[in-house]
Amino acid sequence: MEHASRLFGTERSAVAVVEPDKPNSVVRVVARKGLSERLSEHMRPCHWREGPAAAAAVRRQPVSSADILHDPAFELTPETRAAIEADGYRSVLAMPLLASGQTAGALVMYRDTGEPFSPPAIELFRVFADQAAIAIENARAFRGEQERRRQVEAIRDLAAEMTRELDLMTLLKLISQRAVELVETTSGAIFLWDRTSELLVPSAWHGFGDWVKDLRVRRGEGTAGLAAERREGVIANDYRAWRGAHPHVLKHTRPGCAMSAPIVYQDQQLLLAHEEERRRVAHEVHDGLAQLAAGAHQHLQAFAHFHAPRSRQARQELEHALELARRTVGEARRIIAGLRPTVLDDFGLAAAVRVEVEGLQAAGWAVGYQENLGAERLPATIETTLFRVAQEALANARKHAGTTRADVSLWREGDTVRVEVRDAGAGFRPSVARAAAGPGERLGLLGMSERVALVGGRLTVRSRPGAGTRVIAEVPVPSYEGAEDGG
Ligand SMILES: Nc1ncnc2c1ncn2[C@@H]1O[C@H](COP(=O)(O)OP(=O)(O)OP(=O)(O)O)[C@@H](O)[C@H]1O
Ligand SMILES: [Mg+2]
Repeated sequence: MEHASRLFGTERSAVAVVEPDKPNSVVRVVARKGLSERLSEHMRPCHWREGPAAAAAVRRQPVSSADILHDPAFELTPETRAAIEADGYRSVLAMPLLASGQTAGALVMYRDTGEPFSPPAIELFRVFADQAAIAIENARAFRGEQERRRQVEAIRDLAAEMTRELDLMTLLKLISQRAVELVETTSGAIFLWDRTSELLVPSAWHGFGDWVKDLRVRRGEGTAGLAAERREGVIANDYRAWRGAHPHVLKHTRPGCAMSAPIVYQDQQLLLAHEEERRRVAHEVHDGLAQLAAGAHQHLQAFAHFHAPRSRQARQELEHALELARRTVGEARRIIAGLRPTVLDDFGLAAAVRVEVEGLQAAGWAVGYQENLGAERLPATIETTLFRVAQEALANARKHAGTTRADVSLWREGDTVRVEVRDAGAGFRPSVARAAAGPGERLGLLGMSERVALVGGRLTVRSRPGAGTRVIAEVPVPSYEGAEDGG
């Protein structure tokens, strides 16, 4: 504006810019010279007819008027009209600021006399405005770059600060506070998934009132529930008008916009790593310990054959050593089988469960087994999950049910596979069993539900004292097409 004033000898000028994120005004005056504050405050036209700056920006052409107050091309608001009368200028020339094909805003000059701007002056002003637009664009790009750098640095500092904090609640509070600061918003909260109630529960927040601690969010509800369900970020730009808005949130606060990002903790990788580790140990035991023990047994047998003991006592001791070696081999085999059911790898879920059932039958149990899976193979993680559920449920029946009858079924229905283990034994109270467990104890039921949840399924335990126990795991299986698409 200083340069414009000198070049064109005007006392009054202004710069207005387009703000793409403010849809209800055309341009906004960001700098002024020789104009009263009162005027520029009102210079936020909603329509191009409300002033020459808006008209120039929208039409992308110079717009001039020798008498702005009486020009039929414009429909000034009463406030603007009053302000112009008070300031006392008449003639106006507005030039669009165009850079890289975009309208950045408009540059405006005012004259108090009603003398119109001459064509050469308009031409000179156009060249001047083009230069100014490029300078403005450069400055904006620089500011954007600085802003990005500031964000990257802020995130780096935050990450360093957060990894130093070891107390979970303090850490969650810190994260919510820093997140609010980083995105320059008014409030934020962290919700954690509560397995028992199957709800998202606020665990830490910043900028919210106390009401937020009573907020419970179902999967798929509000931005938080939707982000948790979809495992991706969710943005509601007009939260109040958004269909998914949470009623409890609307009741207590009137958010303009909201966004949520999911926190995914290790997730599937945890299960896979677990199974990988089991496989590794199984191989180690198979190739190392089991081979050594088998070798020792063979050597002992050969030794006994060639050096038959003479005394009865020597014979007994050799027999004992042979027995120990044989048991070591058996024990190694048992460990391998427990770690990695080879039948599962080789023949699939239905066959592996059948082996478990037959094991119980061999121990004198009456176990029914129904399945409709046959030799069909499912994704490896799902097979392992359902197999472990069946195994643990049967182990529980054996240990706790006080009966020798059980029924196992395994069936696929569309995109769902279910395994159910039922006994008519003693039964128990699932809620009590969960609460009574000390650390490291009773991991069976918990482990089952964790495993099933990790593959997106659901575990149901129905039991009552005296009424037997039903354990049902339901897991979604990708359809055949989906499996092919997914590779
Ligand atoms: N089929 C069942 N019949 C009767 N009680 C059961 C049955 N299954 C589980 N329970 C009860 O629930 C408790 C918890 O079972 P869970 O499998 O979690 O632990 P656990 O079997 O005691 O120990 P772990 O599985 O860790 O070796 C058991 O201690 C038992 O009291
Ligand atoms: Mg158990």
